[in-house]
Amino acid sequence: MSQKLLFVCLGNICRSPTAEGITNHLLRSSGHKEAIICDSAGTAAYHIGSPPDRRMQQAVRCYGLELQGKARQIQPADLREFDLILAMDRQNYRDILSLDPQGKYAEKVRLMCSYCRSHSDEEVPDPYYGGEAGFHYVIELLWDACSGLLESLVPGIQCPPLPSRA
Ligand code: 4NP
Repeated sequence: MSQKLLFVCLGNICRSPTAEGITNHLLRSSGHKEAIICDSAGTAAYHIGSPPDRRMQQAVRCYGLELQGKARQIQPADLREFDLILAMDRQNYRDILSLDPQGKYAEKVRLMCSYCRSHSDEEVPDPYYGGEAGFHYVIELLWDACSGLLESLVPGIQCPPLPSRA
């Protein structure tokens, strides 16, 4: 049966839809589409119903990717329904755990950067108030984390490197 992953950031318009898009791309391009089901959500309600941020859509296109979906807010039921919940930063991590006061699902919640192999960042930086370079850095960092995550979950998967930027 497929494992279910939920990527979580603040607004669900920059970092978490990018993590979802990169993970789906890596699964498709390595022939393991059936192994994992992905979704993404935000801890905040500001952008509910919005598509991914235009600046991030433009940045991912440079690597041949497209982002899907509309922003939604994480719900307590998500902690039950998903097998693994990946927080982009420590504030997201704390906000996710606050939906589970008894700590029943705490083991499912992890920091995304704990799966990085070639970056030492502990958090995925929020690109929202910065310039174009910040969006490209998020893609580079998430490519590393998503590859490490999939190689820890899917036996035999080999993720390709980040394509060079068009
Ligand atoms: P995200 O980025 O959490 O990666 O989607 C942000 C999106 C919106 C805001 C902050 C961060 N905001 O303040 O509206």
